[in-house]
Amino acid sequence: MVLASLDLRKFVAPEFVIGSNARNLAGRYAKNFGAAHVFVVTGPNVIRAGWTKDVTESLDAEGIRSTIFSEVTPNPRDFEVMNGAERYQQAGCNAIIAIGGGSPIDCAKGIGIVVSNGKHILAFEGVDTIPVPPPPLICIPTTAGTGADVSQFAIINDTKRKVKIAIISKKIVPDIALVDPVPLTSLTPELTAHTGMDAITHSVEAYVSNASSPVTDTLALESISQMSHYLLKAQKNPGNIGYRNQTLLGSLLGGLAFSNASLGAVHAMAHSLGGFSDLPHGACNAILLEPVIDFNFEACPDRYEAVLKALMVDSAGLSPEEIKRTLLSAIRLLRESLGDTMSLSEMGVSKKDIPELARKAKRDPCLATNPRKPTLEDIERMYEYAL
Ligand SMILES: [Fe+2]
Repeated sequence: MVLASLDLRKFVAPEFVIGSNARNLAGRYAKNFGAAHVFVVTGPNVIRAGWTKDVTESLDAEGIRSTIFSEVTPNPRDFEVMNGAERYQQAGCNAIIAIGGGSPIDCAKGIGIVVSNGKHILAFEGVDTIPVPPPPLICIPTTAGTGADVSQFAIINDTKRKVKIAIISKKIVPDIALVDPVPLTSLTPELTAHTGMDAITHSVEAYVSNASSPVTDTLALESISQMSHYLLKAQKNPGNIGYRNQTLLGSLLGGLAFSNASLGAVHAMAHSLGGFSDLPHGACNAILLEPVIDFNFEACPDRYEAVLKALMVDSAGLSPEEIKRTLLSAIRLLRESLGDTMSLSEMGVSKKDIPELARKAKRDPCLATNPRKPTLEDIERMYEYAL
């Protein structure tokens, strides 16, 4: 293999354990980190399914106290982070475990930042803005999509400005991720589809990113291949641990890829959309992936051809224009097969909302690594495509 680039690239990743029942190692790792009282950030559905209890029982077995915090909504809000930080301090905790989808994990990262640095979470927007490292953080993802369990990103909803902010720092890479397929068996078909499309988007954006490297390229393409093989199978057979494990592997690889290569216009526009209308993150990505590929394609046709191949579609003998059309239809077909075909207008967004959405997307740090620099008007056109 010829290295794609000789530029300097660094790669940051946490320790992780992948495999069935990895969540039950939470107590042992918390003990290794010197935890006496763990703040467990989670969500109501994860509690109902019994996965949070598995974690608190493993803490009990090690003689470690726990306080559960589950007041986290999808698209975690700034005030939820601040409430969580207050509760963490009141309880006298000294470590955090996040078990759930991307929202509890991002909220947990935010709580860690606030309790260590004593400022409002919105003060940490941007890249490398966290002076004091947060307390130990163990992440247990219950969806195959977020990648937050291995990434240096946290996305928090700024409720006043109605926009999602990105906090990017290696100080919020978790200390360990326990990557366990068993909790995925309780995911609904809809959430499986949305989070799976999020994972695919991470990998596509990381692969075409300006900051990609041979390491992130390898991870991104393998992630796309895993998801294209197993996402539908996992959705149709929700209790199949093997299929769930493959999608979790796809999500993990995509998470490592985007954490180090960053993202692009799909996420910049999805963050703006999610802050504006509180739509599910994965659904926003699924809707925006096609218009962004349509716009970006001319900047890196070879890269998109490799994405098409990773989706198991033969591109032999096709012209660049045919490759683009085939890739767009492959993504459309995947979305249709997953039952995830909503348009932006069907989700309640109208044409008059687009200028504001585009303005906010233009300021998102994910746009910096998009392979083609869009103007404000380009971003508006991409939103219109998705209407
Ligand atoms: Fe994402």
